[in-house]
Amino acid sequence: MSLSEANRKYFDSISDAYDNKPWFTKVNQQVTEELQARLEWIGIPLVNTGSPTDVKEVKFLDYACGPGLMSRIFGPYVTVTKGIDISPNMVATYNARARTAGLPVFSINAVMGDLFNKNEAPSSEISGSEFRNFDLVAVGFGFHHFEDVVHAARCLKERLRPGGVLVINDFLEGGDLKADEHGNPIAGTEGDHAHHHHHPGHHRQSHHHGHDGIKSEKCDPATHTHANVKQEWDDVSSSREVKEQMKDSIAVYSFTVDGVKKFFTEAGFVDVDVAVMPERVYMQFGGRKIWRTILFAKGRKPLETEAKSEL
Ligand SMILES: C[S@@+](CC[C@H](N)C(=O)[O-])C[C@H]1O[C@@H](n2cnc3c(N)ncnc32)[C@H](O)[C@@H]1O
Repeated sequence: MSLSEANRKYFDSISDAYDNKPWFTKVNQQVTEELQARLEWIGIPLVNTGSPTDVKEVKFLDYACGPGLMSRIFGPYVTVTKGIDISPNMVATYNARARTAGLPVFSINAVMGDLFNKNEAPSSEISGSEFRNFDLVAVGFGFHHFEDVVHAARCLKERLRPGGVLVINDFLEGGDLKADEHGNPIAGTEGDHAHHHHHPGHHRQSHHHGHDGIKSEKCDPATHTHANVKQEWDDVSSSREVKEQMKDSIAVYSFTVDGVKKFFTEAGFVDVDVAVMPERVYMQFGGRKIWRTILFAKGRKPLETEAKSEL
């Protein structure tokens, strides 16, 4: 099964429940506050910010939109939002929520699609002019699911207008802390705890090699016995099958700041910057209770004149 198929399958199976846990609401709230405080950092004119640079129209693409976290974050500052996701059930959830919120299809709507398939051109549904020339493209917690991050960033750049910006968030390598059974952080456990070498189903690791700065967890045999792995996997709510599917949907578990800067730059972005969220977020990730660190990255598609001067 390809990584894209694994993603469709996993996210189709969890779309209803994806963000309905209290800890997830808190993560989304922290990400929302952080990004809405960073509108200037994003660096493109928006609507409704009260800045003299405000414009009348902003076209926004929420790629790998899921139920629409990024659309809710940027919604107030844009005029048209398009969502794309590989999972039809996620698309259905996204559109149902937008309609429940009373938002019309012409201002916000998602469709199923995959821009990254190297063997097949994107479907006609996402090939028309309304899916091009975006001022802003955002990908929330998506890049750790993508097989080839340089290719992904490049495909998203193609959908931006010259001068448009790509913003992403994901997890920082080495930024995890273990949590105890009550969810409290355990001091001195800084590292990578979202993934475990000994557990079956981590065959995606072979894909990591070649992505600079993207590594998976280094194991500490003293703390990771099979017995406590089993316990960790058993004491968090979802079923083993769902956890296995989740692992299959993941390409990498975290990124370094330099690794992200490098893949944005390799994809042809300029003004690339990465910021690390100062506060960790509590998650139940892959069946584990952990505190993770989120990073935000942005890059601008060069203007045509800039692009030419580089040749
Ligand atoms: C962890 S969820 C994040 C959802 C949402 N962006 C958020 O921040 O809450 C990742 C999403 O990426 C989607 N996805 C994975 N691979 C994709 C691909 N190649 N193209 C489009 N969507 C993809 C999944 O279906 C899923 O909805």
